[in-house]
Amino acid sequence: MSACRARYPAGVDIDRLIAEARRAAEPEPAGRALLDAVAAETGGCPVALGEALEGLRADDSRRGRGLWVTPLALAEAVVAAAPLDGVIVDPSCGAGVFLVAAARRLLAGGATAESLGARLVGLDTDPLAVHAAGLALGALGISAQLRCADATATPWAPEVHTVIGNPPWVDSEGMVRAGLDRAALAARLGLRGNWDLSAAFVALAASTLAPGGHLAFVLPNKIVAAPWGGSVRAVLRQGRVEAVEDHTQRGWFAASVQPIVLRWSRSAPRDHGVLEVGGERSRMPLPERLTDPWPLRPVPDTRGCVALGSLARCTDGATVSEAYALRDALRDGEPGPGDVRVANSGTIDPLTFLWGQRELRYLGRRIARPVIDREALPPRRREQAAAPKLIVASMTRVLEAAVDSDGSWYGAKSTVVVVPTAVPLPWLAVCLCAPTASEWYRAVWGGLALQGGHLRVGSRQLEALPVPPWTGDEAALEAAAAALGQGVEAAARLGERLYVAARAGAGGARW
Ligand SMILES: C[S@@+](CC[C@H](N)C(=O)[O-])C[C@H]1O[C@@H](n2cnc3c(N)ncnc32)[C@H](O)[C@@H]1O
Repeated sequence: MSACRARYPAGVDIDRLIAEARRAAEPEPAGRALLDAVAAETGGCPVALGEALEGLRADDSRRGRGLWVTPLALAEAVVAAAPLDGVIVDPSCGAGVFLVAAARRLLAGGATAESLGARLVGLDTDPLAVHAAGLALGALGISAQLRCADATATPWAPEVHTVIGNPPWVDSEGMVRAGLDRAALAARLGLRGNWDLSAAFVALAASTLAPGGHLAFVLPNKIVAAPWGGSVRAVLRQGRVEAVEDHTQRGWFAASVQPIVLRWSRSAPRDHGVLEVGGERSRMPLPERLTDPWPLRPVPDTRGCVALGSLARCTDGATVSEAYALRDALRDGEPGPGDVRVANSGTIDPLTFLWGQRELRYLGRRIARPVIDREALPPRRREQAAAPKLIVASMTRVLEAAVDSDGSWYGAKSTVVVVPTAVPLPWLAVCLCAPTASEWYRAVWGGLALQGGHLRVGSRQLEALPVPPWTGDEAALEAAAAALGQGVEAAARLGERLYVAARAGAGGARW
């Protein structure tokens, strides 16, 4: 129970009252009356008002609106480090948690409630949200500029100096459901790809802010890594990325939501941003190419390395349609002469196929010893299966590659198949075991991480992995083969030494 909920008098069942308001013949006035009562009981607590608002919208409309109220402590942390100059706008203010956090800080610094009324601006498409924000700010004696309006379709204020908030994270389908003209917005803001509504709010803020103005937004982590974030990253490169703070492991929201905090100013651009992880600050390179991600961890030093894609062909194990088409061709049993064994993300550990030890879960099927007739595979996949290769799991905490040295495995869906073209297979296998390889992947592609911090490993991302160059040294190859025979720890140790040697530019290190 939150501290604000604890403020309700004994016997008040707020969840029942919310349910009754939702069922009322006229839910909007009933919702307003409930919010009035919540404000009266809790002294206008924005957390209680936010919880009541979420409860009142606990239907399909909540998802379409992207209504996830920000914890007060997160809003306070965002606001504490923002300059809070001039006119301060939260363009999707919800129950007003950011505006309240800003107001409290400014009041504590000596501003008057009256002066803040003219400086604090909030917009939201949800009339109940606007009502809740009015109550929360009203409890501080502030009559702020709050409007029920679509922030993508109306100017926010004549002049804007600070933008704060947690804009709606709504995917393209949700936008269509909410009636937004996505194509018009994309054309106006220069957004491309499968962008999320939060990206539009970033682009709008960047173009709305007065020169020198500041932005501090809570955003989905994917905005720094996903291809759809590329066009908004391009917009941000025109100003200054003051900081990207990684909050993905902080558990602020329901587990599937992974937030970062972006701080940006409309100032002269720099070629780097500041990355903050757990209070530690470091410089963050801002790649030129739109498609390149911004790191969410300090990136390990991989000088002297080359991109994996220049040494091997990386391919996703199966497309979705292939995965369905092959579902019924999988059999359980020992492989016959024309068969290959089948592995997916769940049946791979570093350097190990768990075939026969862990069931393969495959589109509703569970198979203890999965095999498939080579002839059942599409020609391209048959060729891929026949090649010596690494099969890399796609949802893991560290990179996990199993070695198929004689082309007797098929890497099914949720794997990446790595076929060496210019390097021996054992060399590549030890490189992928090195802690530096996993650290690099997490730092650079961590923005795509799934629930629980699991990395999403894809072929395009893996191609970019820096690996030590193959020197053609037979002794090194023998050392790699021997290390693989000794197990994961030996392989990881050797792999790490290869990275160190590459970094030192030593070329031929001693094995
Ligand atoms: C993630 S919630 C954030 C609310 C509040 N800022 C907070 O942090 O608690 C997103 C809010 O955006 C609002 N919203 C969705 N689409 C909007 C739009 N086009 N214009 C303005 N507000 C919008 C929703 O109603 C919801 O209140």
